[in-house]
Amino acid sequence: MALWGGRFTQAADQRFKQFNDSLRFDYRLAEQDITGSVAWSKALVTVGVLSKEEQQQLEQALHTLLSEVRANPEQILQSDAEDIHSWVEGKLIDKVGALGKKLHTGRSRNDQVATDLKLWCKQQVSELLNATRELQQALVVTAEANQDAVMPGYTHLQRAQPVTFAHWCLAYTEMLARDESRLQDALKRLDVSPLGCGALAGTAYEIDREQLAGWLGFASATRNSLDSVSDRDHVLELLSDASIGMVHLSRFAEDLIFFNSGEAGFVELSDKVTSGSSLMPQKKNPDALELIRGKCGRVQGALTGMMMTLKGLPLAYNKDMQEDKEGLFDALDTWLDCLHMAGLVLEGIQVKRPRCQEAAEQGYANSTELADYLVAKGVPFREAHHIVGEAVVAAIHKGVALEALSLEELKAFSPVIDQDVYPILSLQSCLDKRNAQGGVAPAQVASAISEAKKRLS
Ligand code: ARG
Repeated sequence: MALWGGRFTQAADQRFKQFNDSLRFDYRLAEQDITGSVAWSKALVTVGVLSKEEQQQLEQALHTLLSEVRANPEQILQSDAEDIHSWVEGKLIDKVGALGKKLHTGRSRNDQVATDLKLWCKQQVSELLNATRELQQALVVTAEANQDAVMPGYTHLQRAQPVTFAHWCLAYTEMLARDESRLQDALKRLDVSPLGCGALAGTAYEIDREQLAGWLGFASATRNSLDSVSDRDHVLELLSDASIGMVHLSRFAEDLIFFNSGEAGFVELSDKVTSGSSLMPQKKNPDALELIRGKCGRVQGALTGMMMTLKGLPLAYNKDMQEDKEGLFDALDTWLDCLHMAGLVLEGIQVKRPRCQEAAEQGYANSTELADYLVAKGVPFREAHHIVGEAVVAAIHKGVALEALSLEELKAFSPVIDQDVYPILSLQSCLDKRNAQGGVAPAQVASAISEAKKRLS
């Protein structure tokens, strides 16, 4: 039975009921709704609505319901209750009879759903925090094992300067560290309890809302009832965090898809995260990574969708707000799945060092070194840049690397070039020289690894 039947003489049209009901997705808030209800029953004792004994009876029944829900959450979906709040209340009445009908005193589904969703968000954020840390750890482990794996670094997808696979791993570690801190930041703002705000104007019972918030594990209670029941900033923030996090993961995926391509061949993905073609027997496709890249889209969609749903909504609660859940659930589930999947991909990755090295040696990635060498010999940088450009063209025509040009050939571009140029053009020297903080020099990478390990331990 609906919670609000008294005012109505006609039953809801089945088609409207289906359209209106949210149980098929908000059943995921069952645990939070029960937890919130236990706390609310305790608050009702403090204002004399429930006796201690009645509260204990309710709490016991709610605990039983909680274990039933945990054992079989799908059972909820068999019900035709309107939403999870109606379902919990209905079950409670089944268990304790008329006493169950007292629980909703002074409470509205508006403060209830806001509370449930925030409790759910807190739980989900803690899982996401774990997953972002785990992926950072996996990246650092991979970095540590690949400090000497030199490969080309790119700008414009043109070989630019040599880097190491370790340095590449640490770049993504940084992005994930920011994702982690964004989540922690969102958590601070959402950790405020709306319970006790009633439908919109506050509850008529003089409940200590701070105490109630504390019982639910919130840091404090919200300040304004109108805002509390209509605020979904936490949904927007978490969707934004998810959107940024997924952008990072999609770039990670794209880099690895390219590294794994026949053209690059820098890594080989494990059979465990790739799939074959039904037609072409030779294929081993990077599906896990492509799905990570692709799923980024639906998460951005959920953020945009929720922004549009909330735009222009008058205060306070409107049914539009029921639209907050499906996108949020899907986006955070997707993000969590993708974080796990990215870790699985890294676990089985094989870096093909000879191929990486070979590619780093090609493509004139040491041109900047030659220019810096000329600068050290007194040639102004702009001139040096031009000279090296000409030398690169000559090497391209000859089909060789810069360091394969003879001293005589090099001297034709600038008489200051000497035998001491050759060690400078080596890949190792290119790396070693970038020893300022954050650079690719082995010493910098090693210290970045040990700092990351400390932060993540
Ligand atoms: N199912 C609703 C939601 O998800 C719960 C709140 C309903 N409140 C109301 N006054 N109709 O938003």
